[in-house]
Amino acid sequence: MNISIQRSNQEEFQNYNVELEGLTLLTVLNHIKTKIDSTLTYSHGCRSGVCGSCAVRVNGREQLMCEYKPNEGDRIEPIRNVRVIRDLVVDSSPIARFNTIASAWSEGAHEENVSEEEMSSIQTQSDCILCVSCYSACPVYAVNPDFIGPFALTRIWRYVSDAREISSDAKMAAIQTNGIWDCTLCGECVPVCPQNIAPAQDIRMLRTKSGMMGYQDPNMASMFGGSLDFGSPMF
Ligand code: SF4
Ligand code: SF4
Ligand code: FES
Repeated sequence: MNISIQRSNQEEFQNYNVELEGLTLLTVLNHIKTKIDSTLTYSHGCRSGVCGSCAVRVNGREQLMCEYKPNEGDRIEPIRNVRVIRDLVVDSSPIARFNTIASAWSEGAHEENVSEEEMSSIQTQSDCILCVSCYSACPVYAVNPDFIGPFALTRIWRYVSDAREISSDAKMAAIQTNGIWDCTLCGECVPVCPQNIAPAQDIRMLRTKSGMMGYQDPNMASMFGGSLDFGSPMF
């Protein structure tokens, strides 16, 4: 089987021929590194779809190397919208800061009984492994590095949907700028998520909730000549 890999020190993809079938891409790369080319550089950790450190693009689509099984002719590249450190290793730390900007975590809990049904409705969002594949696929983040983006917004939806959370209002305020209204709802972040999270759907829900709180889409302001007071609740 032939696969080609984008190397950071070469303009052309580098081709490798390996006689391995039915194994994960990570296993294939480990074989290349130990048997063919020790200079090939890539990231991995858990080898079981948990740590989120092995995301790459295969034929233009984000995949976890420890889960994807390569096919003849596959082209492997680093994920997009991040700085390439070397070969398939990237620096995704600028994306991690969005969790801080949006306070995408619990900041305390009211005493409240939450049903199993309510908890199961936000379980999926809790399964994010921070692989940043959704940022790689996001056309808005590609042009706006301040866009809070899919996984941070999906985590916000998880916490503001939890009746016990004490800081829901502050979280909703934090995502009005460079957040939910900048998303085009294109859905590109959905099929690339290895955890079956649908950030686009959660962002749509955040927009609805924002509207119920009195926030409005700032893009509407420009349609009305900026005469309305957008970006803050209307009471
Ligand atoms: S739906 Fe929104 S967050 Fe998802 S890829 Fe499109 S613009 Fe980005
Ligand atoms: S939402 Fe999905 S694609 Fe995005 S970082 Fe989390 S696990 Fe990865
Ligand atoms: S090595 Fe941890 S998710 Fe792939």
